[in-house]
Amino acid sequence: MGNQSSVFRVDGKVALVVGAASGIGEATAFALAQSGATVVCGDLNEAGAAATAAAISRDGGKAFPLTLDITNPNSVNSGVAKIKAEHGGIDILVTTPAVNVRKRLLSYTDEELDRVVDINLKGSFRIARAVAQVMTEGNGGSIILTSSIRSLVVEPGQGVYAATKASLVQLARGFASELAQYNVRVNAIAPGVVDTPLTAPIKKNHEWYSAYANKSALKRWAKPSELAWPIVFLASDAASYITGTVLFVDGGWVAVDGRFEPPL
Ligand SMILES: NC(=O)c1ccc[n+]([C@@H]2O[C@H](COP(=O)([O-])OP(=O)(O)OC[C@H]3O[C@@H](n4cnc5c(N)ncnc54)[C@H](O)[C@@H]3O)[C@@H](O)[C@H]2O)c1
Repeated sequence: MGNQSSVFRVDGKVALVVGAASGIGEATAFALAQSGATVVCGDLNEAGAAATAAAISRDGGKAFPLTLDITNPNSVNSGVAKIKAEHGGIDILVTTPAVNVRKRLLSYTDEELDRVVDINLKGSFRIARAVAQVMTEGNGGSIILTSSIRSLVVEPGQGVYAATKASLVQLARGFASELAQYNVRVNAIAPGVVDTPLTAPIKKNHEWYSAYANKSALKRWAKPSELAWPIVFLASDAASYITGTVLFVDGGWVAVDGRFEPPL
């Protein structure tokens, strides 16, 4: 048995967090740095990635910004090659970017379908494939894809987004089955509702915001840091026997029906 607190740490590891400019990715970049990793803060938003890396450095952590677009294969491949050249390898990948076009399926256009699939499924695949290649040439690693409660349950207007989030579960399992021989673990995290810039429009609608809060067993939204620490767990040696699984961090959303509490 290793030291019980140190197995949760990631000292000396190189982590790439894609989506690090905002929300869950930003909080994860902070948490990984606080846990000892050197964090490459990747994002399409150049200024946002730089701001997160600078804030981590001010906090005493090690972080570097990287402008990266997971919808662009050249950007993915050159970004990953740059990290390998500068840091010698990649031990941890967390990828968060996704879009959601909330629209009923009968009026969904092909262009919208392509846009959502391209970032949510294909973008996650592109970055995982490129980083996994580096991990298989090194000492292995841990990859965390970002799924959602929508991989299991859906509501009107979320069919395509939900389909991509379910597909990420199978993608994680597929990668896990092929990469275990290289000591690469691959898992998905499935958030419930999290207060981030992505969900800010919901927060402006009190009825919508509180309905979502009350759907979970904990009756509230998550803070981004409440996703970040479970992601650090999956990245760390504390999760050394966990691969090909989905960790729901949803305040009990999918566990509890929640429509009605019978009088008892
Ligand atoms: N916030 C929630 O309630 C919630 C719930 C369930 C699942 N999720 C999932 O969690 C993930 C993160 O959500 P969030 O709320 O932190 O989102 P967010 O919008 O706050 O952050 C996403 C980040 O990804 C970056 N990004 C967008 N396109 C990119 C691209 N092509 N290449 C690189 N970076 C790109 C954005 O610039 C942004 O910094 C998403 O996959 C989302 O589906 C979120």
